[in-house]
Amino acid sequence: MARRRPQVVIGVCGSIAAFKVAVLHKHLRDHVDCTVAMTPSAQQFVGAQTFLALTGNPVITSLWEPSYAKPKHIDLADTLDLLLIAPATANILGKAAHGIADEAVSTLLMSVLPDERPVVFAPAMNTRMWKHPATRDNVKLLGKRGCHFVYPESGDLACGWQGEGRLAEPEVIAAHVLRLLKVDAKKTAR
Ligand SMILES: Cc1cc2nc3c(=O)[nH]c(=O)nc-3n(C[C@H](O)[C@H](O)[C@H](O)COP(=O)(O)O)c2cc1C
Repeated sequence: MARRRPQVVIGVCGSIAAFKVAVLHKHLRDHVDCTVAMTPSAQQFVGAQTFLALTGNPVITSLWEPSYAKPKHIDLADTLDLLLIAPATANILGKAAHGIADEAVSTLLMSVLPDERPVVFAPAMNTRMWKHPATRDNVKLLGKRGCHFVYPESGDLACGWQGEGRLAEPEVIAAHVLRLLKVDAKKTAR
């Protein structure tokens, strides 16, 4: 009998790095099933249709979908094995740290307990946003609650800066996710 593949939900936020989720998915797709949820800002950067085509699963762009009999955030939270927020904005870190649930991704974050299923943040932002005391406090608080981080790298940023804040390489994020799920990429490759 075929083994159930791990279910990963990727919450995509409003960063130029949102397009890199397509590459991230390429590194995950042979090992896990992915569903994408997008904040309204994320949808300014990449169309939901792209993630629908790549993952083969409906993309969650809103909580308000009359075809969802059960609230979609609860449905996903009940079935996912890992929640990955990538790219994670300064805004979503703040909302997650303070329990704000006002759209699909932040509501999903509030519906998953980090001591029950791994919650992973891969932040991407301008260096000053990353170094801001509010962001530092939010990262510390989320880490204390058991959330995982794939920290951003230093390099050229889309905003013209050079410094810390660039989304970690998609293969690095994928390796972190697979490690947390205890997936042996060599054995599960299709
Ligand atoms: C062109 C552009 C690029 C942006 N890139 C980032 C980014 O990489 N990281 C970040 O934290 N915010 C970035 N922002 C700001 C966020 O999109 C903004 O704070 C938004 O409210 C985040 O919403 P979300 O967290 O719900 O996706 C960017 C904004 C613009 C206009």
